[in-house]
Amino acid sequence: MELLRGQVLWFDGSPMNGNIEAAARHITHGAIAIDSGRILAVGEADTLAAQYPHAESFDYKDHLLTAGFVDAHVHYPQTAIIASWGKRLIDWLNTYTFPEEMRFGDADYAAEIAARYLDLALANGTTTVASYCTIHPESVDAIFEAAEARQMRIVAGKTCMDRNAPAGLCDTPQSAYDDSKRLLEKWHGKGRAHYAITPRFSPTSTPEQLEALGALWGEHPEVLMQTHLSEQVDEIAWVKTLFPDARDYLDTYEYFGLLKSGGLYGHAIHLEEREKSRLLEMDASLIHCPTSNTFIGSGLFDMKGLAADGHRIGLATDTGGGSNFSMLRTMAAAYEVGQLNGSPLHAAELYWLATAGSAKALHLDDKIGNIAPGMEADIIALDLASTPAIAQRSARAEDIWESLFATIMMGDDRAISDVWVSGQRRALT
Ligand code: GUN
Ligand code: ZN
Repeated sequence: MELLRGQVLWFDGSPMNGNIEAAARHITHGAIAIDSGRILAVGEADTLAAQYPHAESFDYKDHLLTAGFVDAHVHYPQTAIIASWGKRLIDWLNTYTFPEEMRFGDADYAAEIAARYLDLALANGTTTVASYCTIHPESVDAIFEAAEARQMRIVAGKTCMDRNAPAGLCDTPQSAYDDSKRLLEKWHGKGRAHYAITPRFSPTSTPEQLEALGALWGEHPEVLMQTHLSEQVDEIAWVKTLFPDARDYLDTYEYFGLLKSGGLYGHAIHLEEREKSRLLEMDASLIHCPTSNTFIGSGLFDMKGLAADGHRIGLATDTGGGSNFSMLRTMAAAYEVGQLNGSPLHAAELYWLATAGSAKALHLDDKIGNIAPGMEADIIALDLASTPAIAQRSARAEDIWESLFATIMMGDDRAISDVWVSGQRRALT
């Protein structure tokens, strides 16, 4: 049993739409008791120290202990091409992404990048990701094996594409169904692994492939489904020409059984009214990827409007269309996008989105994304004075939010002073 001492931050509910006082909980001299990979108790340090006198103590002093970050949409195979210059979505895919993804038929290369990616994620305080793979089953085994070796809870799935991609990156409706089914049966529920059926996006799937994957999801409603939706205006116009009978972009998924709770829809920027109301009705998850949306030039996600309507929303890097591995930088970008939309998010809202909100978007909020008895012990220690620039601003802060906001806006992996995964302290690489 261990006792982690420090400042502690957690959430009793969602702070979105202004319920910050009711939702966010902060203790200056706090502690978290953990045992066998789970959180036993959270509270005042003195009280817990008296309650658990034999626990091994780790004193993080004024560092902030919170849940590890949950990154709800990434492409681990794009790790090595992150920050590639000058293209918008379709050109970016063709120029940088597809050639790199071709390499993942090589199991050794897939294993190398999967390990590199998860170590970068952990160094940035991210303890769970939902990742796309490539069309190659090897790429799926690689990320699940790398996560298993690190005891990380993870969501991943084989990316399915059978058109508008290089021949070496195309499967077929049948092979996409067969491979996804086999991988799902192999990995879903094994340790901390979750499978997500993964049609990349409707431009790279034929109607036959979408139908096959919709059928697979119908047969396995226990798994998640992840895809992209309405990221760029040009992409939406292309979808209209590829699916002339569809009412809108969402309908290309809905028609084939690919719209329901447990569906994760990345980007969701340029939504029509019908799409918004169907996504809400079905309790689908919208995944906001702000560094990607500015980096690829996609547009501004309507966080306040969609949150006010009650959508289930997660936050994500979208590595490597996103320009960073850090959820701190991603929160900063979400703040900046909010400013451009006329509605800046509070530090508590940003932090909730990066932890409990993303966990809820992945339907894992009963396990991860928060600090509470019974939750899995995926915990980070955040140094709120990790650089001279942050330290001098934090010194002026009048409360935890002002201090935390300086780290959100200016922090990076240097702010992550320690990471616990499944109750084990990780040596950061
Ligand atoms: N749409 C389809 N594939 C991708 C991808 O890999 N990244 C992003 N940002 N958008 C996509
Ligand atoms: Zn993506």
